[in-house]
Amino acid sequence: MSFTLWFTGLSGAGKTTLSKRIYLDIRRLGYKAEWLDGDLIRANFSQELGFSKRDRDINVRRLGFISHLLNKNGIVSVVAAISPYREARENNRRLLGSYLEVFCDCPLDALVERDPKGLYKRALAGEIPSFTGVSDPYEPPQDPDVHVRTDRESVEESFALVMANLRGRGLLPPEEQCVLCEYREEDEAAWRAWLAELGYCRSSARK
Ligand code: ADX
Repeated sequence: MSFTLWFTGLSGAGKTTLSKRIYLDIRRLGYKAEWLDGDLIRANFSQELGFSKRDRDINVRRLGFISHLLNKNGIVSVVAAISPYREARENNRRLLGSYLEVFCDCPLDALVERDPKGLYKRALAGEIPSFTGVSDPYEPPQDPDVHVRTDRESVEESFALVMANLRGRGLLPPEEQCVLCEYREEDEAAWRAWLAELGYCRSSARK
């Protein structure tokens, strides 16, 4: 039995950091898992898409469909995408029997303050049209399965919340029953670098 763990939230809210941390841990627990982040999918399956509502909905639908294929084959899907529209997320919930939504919640002023990619500065200056949270909508989950407050919690605290939730639902075994296997971030980086070298995705440096 597999499942999809879907991280939604504004750009810079911590979806990538947290989802990657969870994904690596799920692999270390011996599960087959894949990590799908918005940027990676946009660079490969969705190069033609922009950021209109229609295009974002198509992107989210593709992520849902790939997750369905993975889950059908017993592979956990860990997705990180802004996925701003509730209806598109709910469609995926219906498609994917076992679907958990993690809301990476962080107030806009904290994001503008952090702004690691400098995108908010540019969006506020009007240089990026339709930027989520600034000039484009974000519909927060009304009843997320897990709600993390990334402005108040450390990555480890949010990580613990998500893992406890997965264990509470029986999707992962209790900690004491876990036998960890070797799966390192470097392994992940190596094959992402290989994909980038072949031109299949952008450099792993961004995500
Ligand atoms: S989604 O809306 O379709 O779910 P997705 O997560 O794939 O978005 O991509 C978001 C990433 O694209 C952001 O982290 C940011 O780096 C980049 N980006 C570029 N333009 C925009 C924009 N107008 N709004 C939001 N993100 C943008």
